[in-house]
Amino acid sequence: MTSTVLRNIGLLVTNDPAFGGPSGSAPGARLGEIREAALVVEDGLVAWVGPAAEAPAADRALDAEGRTVIPGFVDSHSHIVFGGDRSAEYEARMSGGTYAAGGIRSTVAATRAATDDELLGRARSLIAEMRSQGTTTVEIKSGYGLTVDDEARLVRLAAQLTDEVTFLGAHVVPAGADADEYVSLVTGPMLDAVAEHAKWIDVFCERGAFDVEQTRRILQAGISRGLLPRLHAAQLQPGEGVALGVSLGAASIDHCTFLTDDDVALLAGSSTFATLLPGVEFSTRQPYPSGRRLIDAGAAVAIATDCNPGSCFTSSMPFCIALAIREMGMTPAEALWSATRGGARALRRDDIGWLRIGARADVVELDAPSYVHLGYRPGVPLVHTVRTAADW
Ligand code: NIG
Ligand code: FE
Repeated sequence: MTSTVLRNIGLLVTNDPAFGGPSGSAPGARLGEIREAALVVEDGLVAWVGPAAEAPAADRALDAEGRTVIPGFVDSHSHIVFGGDRSAEYEARMSGGTYAAGGIRSTVAATRAATDDELLGRARSLIAEMRSQGTTTVEIKSGYGLTVDDEARLVRLAAQLTDEVTFLGAHVVPAGADADEYVSLVTGPMLDAVAEHAKWIDVFCERGAFDVEQTRRILQAGISRGLLPRLHAAQLQPGEGVALGVSLGAASIDHCTFLTDDDVALLAGSSTFATLLPGVEFSTRQPYPSGRRLIDAGAAVAIATDCNPGSCFTSSMPFCIALAIREMGMTPAEALWSATRGGARALRRDDIGWLRIGARADVVELDAPSYVHLGYRPGVPLVHTVRTAADW
């Protein structure tokens, strides 16, 4: 087995609280920062991490030339298997229109018309775009098929691209369908057709999509088939989706744009993550929710892109981090944690999102003296090198 040491790291973010010092002692305490650090990798896994002066010998050495090293970003919410383009809808919105769930149906038509190769080609190029911006894990949802065969196809294609596959047959009721009959289809034959390839079940619980009782039925059907629940809720208005998600033990409730005080208290008293998607507010001109309010209440927050052709077509976690800092009241340390370890925990993963012994060596070198530059230098390509387990 070959070991590799990455040495001359100016600042290493491990996200391992063991390196954090007394909690609250510094803004980045939770990030487990080490200055003048080294990292040893064996078999694609972190074998040692600590101060450079104490680094053990290794077979090979790489030089980080004083750069900042962080865990790869975990983008825990995306819809990147789709056909078509909705730039005209974006343009109309930027000319005074508003975002509505119904736009999803135009992507459904374009997705059904696309070949497997076209869908995979587009998704692979988005994954390459994500990786060049530091993302090393991405969750992918179905939801632009909305028939048994089309949803099965999307879930199967997504499974070729990631381990984090989410069945979102309940994205919107397809044009011309009866809502209750469609919910029966989703909870019956569609679930049968996708269960083998999906880890998660998701529902868009919102006006114009699925109400809270339909959402409950769908999530419970998924849970009974061994899928784990997560959901889209409170994107366009407050609703009962957050309370439902918490009561079902959802790993994450995503968007959380319109939260009541009760929602915040429920999230804070649970292990359910609030996944904030600041690119959506940016791209729809909706108000940004406050990450500060959630964190101060004690809720766990993740940040993701929601990369999709309708509400937000960015693949950039650094962009979302900069927005979370500027627009959601989060500190640079909180935003980085939420985009790495937070995303991993929102996917219930302990092997990613941090750099501690045994974790996957998904590592990003930033051409910057600190992760603070992710917000301080918005829009600047700071990602210098990205390595996942296979690259060492
Ligand atoms: O997360 N909200 C539901 N689904 C996506 C948008 C999908 C679309 O507009 O195509 C979202 O925002
Ligand atoms: Fe989404």
